Amino acid sequence: MNIFEQIKKYQLVPVVVINNLDDALPTMEALIRGGLPVAEITFRTACAEEALKLLTKTYPEALIGAGTIINAKQCETAIKSGAKYIVGPGLSSSVAEVCKKYDIPYIPGVATPTEIMQALELDLNIVKFFPASNLGGVKTLKAICSAFPQIEVMVTGGISEDNVLEYLAFEKIIACGGSWMMKGTPLEIENKTKRAIEIIGGNR
Ligand code: 3PG
Repeated sequence: MNIFEQIKKYQLVPVVVINNLDDALPTMEALIRGGLPVAEITFRTACAEEALKLLTKTYPEALIGAGTIINAKQCETAIKSGAKYIVGPGLSSSVAEVCKKYDIPYIPGVATPTEIMQALELDLNIVKFFPASNLGGVKTLKAICSAFPQIEVMVTGGISEDNVLEYLAFEKIIACGGSWMMKGTPLEIENKTKRAIEIIGGNR
């Protein structure tokens, strides 16, 4: 199964912010115990690179990628730290180039039809609609997607256990990303993860 197929299978991508390296392993262990060996480690904290290295080394089978990647240098660092996929809040052609060089999937953030067109020009047809809820959620996404039959979408921004099913019901959406299951202690993370999986009815 390639990386996109694995993302489609799990349908959920926890957005993980590690502020303290000591939290990295307990956080990942909680996700795994919860049934979701998946994490997008965001590159917006000082220890993100170290956390990514540690987690990809400890859990080589897990679907661990890097998020909040906004430039080529960060992208190169993330890939060398073991990221299996790269996610960004927006679209960067230099990030796309680095991902292509290493043959690593890139899911760029898009918010408009023009940005989707720019992604397609770079041969990227799986995009991240961000911030989904602020942009009008499924309703807006359906209107935009009607013009782009060739794309598939991950959504992040404002997804919760209350609306995740509504998003996943739209066939263009391959996965929902978010931080809603990441709040609290490892036990709380584990329980919220279990609940999220239960709500969506397991893997596809
Ligand atoms: C992010 O990059 O922070 C994600 O979009 C998560 O959004 P959320 O916190 O609303 O789930």
